[in-house]
Amino acid sequence: MCGIIGYAGPKNIESILLVGLERLSYRGYDSSGIAIISDGELSYWKKTGKIRELEKMLRNLSIKGSIGIGHTRWATHGEPNEMNAHPHLGPNKKVAIVHNGIIENFSVLKEELIKNGHIFRSDTDTEIVAHLIESYMDLGLVQAVESATTHLKGSYAIAAIAEAEPDKIVVCRHGSPLIIGLGKGENLVSSDINAILPHTKQIVLLEDDELAVITPSKVTYKIINGKAITKKSQHIRWDALTQEKSGYETFMLKEIFEQPNVIRQLISKMVVADKQIKLKHIKLGQKDLASITRIIIQACGTSWHAGLYTKYLMENYARILTEVDISSEFRYRQMLTHGNDVVLALSQSGETADTLACLREAKSKYFKVLALVNVKGSSIDRESDGVMYSYAGQEVGVASTKNYVAQLVAMYLFSLHMGRIKKLISPQELAEKISEIKRIPDHIEHILAQTDKIKAIAKKYANSQEFLFIGRGVNYPSALEGALKLKEISYIHATGYPAGELKHGPIALIDSKLPVVCIAPKTHTYEKMLSNIQEVRSRKGRTIIVASESDTELPKYADDLITIPDVSEDLTPILVAVPLQILAYEIATQLGCDVDQPRNLAKSVTVE
Ligand code: M6R
Repeated sequence: MCGIIGYAGPKNIESILLVGLERLSYRGYDSSGIAIISDGELSYWKKTGKIRELEKMLRNLSIKGSIGIGHTRWATHGEPNEMNAHPHLGPNKKVAIVHNGIIENFSVLKEELIKNGHIFRSDTDTEIVAHLIESYMDLGLVQAVESATTHLKGSYAIAAIAEAEPDKIVVCRHGSPLIIGLGKGENLVSSDINAILPHTKQIVLLEDDELAVITPSKVTYKIINGKAITKKSQHIRWDALTQEKSGYETFMLKEIFEQPNVIRQLISKMVVADKQIKLKHIKLGQKDLASITRIIIQACGTSWHAGLYTKYLMENYARILTEVDISSEFRYRQMLTHGNDVVLALSQSGETADTLACLREAKSKYFKVLALVNVKGSSIDRESDGVMYSYAGQEVGVASTKNYVAQLVAMYLFSLHMGRIKKLISPQELAEKISEIKRIPDHIEHILAQTDKIKAIAKKYANSQEFLFIGRGVNYPSALEGALKLKEISYIHATGYPAGELKHGPIALIDSKLPVVCIAPKTHTYEKMLSNIQEVRSRKGRTIIVASESDTELPKYADDLITIPDVSEDLTPILVAVPLQILAYEIATQLGCDVDQPRNLAKSVTVE
């Protein structure tokens, strides 16, 4: 996790670093800091809280300098306070570094350094690296960094500056991303292309175990503790993403309301002439796709829920055995391969560390790796054999909304495509299904028009201590997603369950205080859901029912009712997601929570 920015050049360094940090805050936002070399002197500022706190602190200082580094943190080692915020300094404050990743052997290293008389100011793993670099400074900054890395186990992207060499930033990486931006008379480094794009579109991707020396006029490269290398730059064709709330109170609300257009755009990219699905970047021919015998989906969080949904569709339409695994679990198990297996990674950011690690592990075991990502140019995008995009546009709110719905639509179309390739779906069936999904954006607009009604329901339940979400079949993932949305932004405990499992344990939770969100649109398990809802009511649970508009039965059993337009079973999760997002959003805002940047979270989880 954590975001790194570095700048070497003549412009206003404070503003470049702060704007860069703001753009990186999706990677963590519990504290931040910058270090600058000005007139040969190293100075640093750190602050707990969001980037705006650091900004306030710096507001009346006139900071000058042409070399600087900045960092936004998501705490791993040591609580989020000023002392643990980056940059970290060597014992004599002559070297400052920012770091992304985890130094796994930090406690052994720390003990050794303490024995040698080092005194530490923080609880972080990073400070050890700063001490090591400073202890090697007799060798010069580049070699000091290289020597320090020989002690490190784990993952790191490091940017270091030193008072003794005030004209450069030395950066290196092992397992965490670093991108160099090449400007005119200025150069930058960051964890993410998007923090660089406002300055230059010419970038160099640093690979693992490479090091770069960045000055305002040039960048040189070498292998860490190895020879000098040359690296090719590439031109990025897309523009810097903008982060505008466009009149909405929060990014999350804006992103919820963007969903109809996101889906329209996605369908226009994936569907040709209303009757064919095209996967422009998948790089596998129809023959290769038709020969796939098993798909192993890899994902985390909300993307994992989209993966669970995909399993139903892929098995239904294409009859391909599909497994769905949480990446942090899959990567530490035996990856058994049989037949023509394909690993499919789902990720909004394309940077989730566990998903990326699975992808790399799978590739090393000769699996073909496909991916569905939202962020172009992300690591998962670059490293997959073939890719699909969810075209959701930039998602700033930490809680995934529009990208989830886009993932469901993309996977629906992908499954139909696979079914068609395998001749399990006729051209006419495909055209009918495409015609139905094209109406989804209008249906979402219809649901969004019910926001005030859902807000009133949210008000009624906002003070509940916990929630249960239940659903079946394709809407079991909807229950998991509804619960995740609520807990991550409102801090209310919420659990999602397959409704059929209620009687195997969770039913013990039900009493007159427990709101149970029952996801029960018209599907082939509707009757079963009806029984489950009765079981909840018999135990005095409070039922918030999500039902199909045409349903005349369920309103009788609902304390509160939310309806969605009638659609085919496999499309119901796409619609169900929307009122559950609004419900979570309205509860969280009632409680005064920061929905865009909830506590303890980061938009992109770039450490294990
Ligand atoms: O970027 P990814 O889709 O790989 O992220 C996976 C999860 O970290 C993410 O979905 C997370 O669960 C969200 N906060 C959910 O809203």
